[in-house]
Amino acid sequence: MTPFEYLKQNESKRFQDLFSLLRFPTVSAKSEHKEDIIACAEWLKLHLGELGFKATLYPTKGHPIVYAEYIVDKKLPTVLYYGHYDVQPPEPLDLWKTPPFEPQIKDGYILARGACDDKGQFFAQIKGLEAVIKTSGTLPVNVKFLIEGEEESHSANLPVFIKKNKKLLRAEVVVVSDTAQFNKELPAVTFGLRGIAFVEVFVYGPNKDLHSGGFGGAVGNPINILCTMVGKLHDKDGKIAIPGFYKDCKPISRWVKNQLKKLPYNETNFKKAIGIPALHGEKGYTTYEKLTSRPTCDANGITGGYQGEGGKTIIPAMASCKITMRLVPDMNPHDICDKIEKYLMKIAPKTVRVKVNKHGGARAVEVPVDGPWLEAAGRAIKAGFGKEPVFIKEGGSIPIAVEFKETLGIDTLFIGFGQNDDNIHSPNERFRVVDFENGCKTAAVLPFELARVDK
Ligand code: BES
Ligand code: MN
Ligand code: MN
Repeated sequence: MTPFEYLKQNESKRFQDLFSLLRFPTVSAKSEHKEDIIACAEWLKLHLGELGFKATLYPTKGHPIVYAEYIVDKKLPTVLYYGHYDVQPPEPLDLWKTPPFEPQIKDGYILARGACDDKGQFFAQIKGLEAVIKTSGTLPVNVKFLIEGEEESHSANLPVFIKKNKKLLRAEVVVVSDTAQFNKELPAVTFGLRGIAFVEVFVYGPNKDLHSGGFGGAVGNPINILCTMVGKLHDKDGKIAIPGFYKDCKPISRWVKNQLKKLPYNETNFKKAIGIPALHGEKGYTTYEKLTSRPTCDANGITGGYQGEGGKTIIPAMASCKITMRLVPDMNPHDICDKIEKYLMKIAPKTVRVKVNKHGGARAVEVPVDGPWLEAAGRAIKAGFGKEPVFIKEGGSIPIAVEFKETLGIDTLFIGFGQNDDNIHSPNERFRVVDFENGCKTAAVLPFELARVDK
């Protein structure tokens, strides 16, 4: 039997297994899910163990890391697969057409939180390898899996693990399936991701909520003030107004500009799909450049005052806002956090007290677009999806990606199986059944192609 035949024959079990994985509500941001996360990690350990992997859970200060290896022969190349089994919070729940942790298939889509980001994607890699193991009794390369439970919470504990376990993680190449294809017709290899920096700003006014009639007019309102401050993060041309923000921001190279221009990017479709009346952003850049290769500064959530039913006439005691900034090479997240803090403190009026919690972040990543590993990946994608991949950049971040190069010295192949309209981080997350299937096929061919590369 060939691996493809195995995949076909075991289709229903393969989906059952994926559904088991998707049923764990592994929301890393919420402490109430700690036990669910441990249960999911245990399940993965067991599942990989059944395939012949030596699997271990490494506890961290946060959620456990699943590590598993299938070592065939020290002389063969070693491939390190990375993925994350944690997911973003599913809220707002009332917008889900099916419950987020009750996976099902509808109209050619697998529906569940984590279906695409990232359970469905790394599981396609596992299932492709399973097909090879079950049909040939072995693998053509050594395989290591590193599946973390904190990616959606900034991978706080993974860098330490990687630094402590360089030998354990030694490999020739890293494979990550946690990105998207260019579109439904064009599979892709991603050569650049943005970095991220995260702060939370708190604005404190009076020592308690006050009657807005009795006090309004003479007391600074933390919500009004916070909104003004957030409004000052950009200038009228869409540039970020934080002093020094662009200091280390590398301009988009001519090569990247040309590469992006080659892709059939459709602004009208983009606008339509997300339902915005007009496009937005920094002057002088195309939409695709803005989405992938320019830095941003966005409020992600703002709160304060009364939000319950009916009205309440108050001057609130405080307001706060979570802000993330997407970074491009060579911006440094700590430096950017310092700069936004300084700026927010400077523009805050004397009528309130302001505090900024700086959470750091991760730098942007760029990987080579040539070399034998990439060619091998291209051949595997061709075998799985029936088409040569294009090279793309993406705007999202995978915080740990830089560590693979900097700590372990290994280049990463970002082979994403998702689509930009899979609703990751949104209600009704989904993953196309064909993308999962072609992903499994790609994954079954990839180790053979990587084994052919001699370095
Ligand atoms: N898989 C995404 C990153 C991604 C999304 C890459 C879309 C390419 C296209 C990842 O799980 C993610 O969401 N990362 C977070 C990191 C953050 C929480 C530190 C992100 O980008 O917001
Ligand atoms: Mn992801
Ligand atoms: Mn994500």
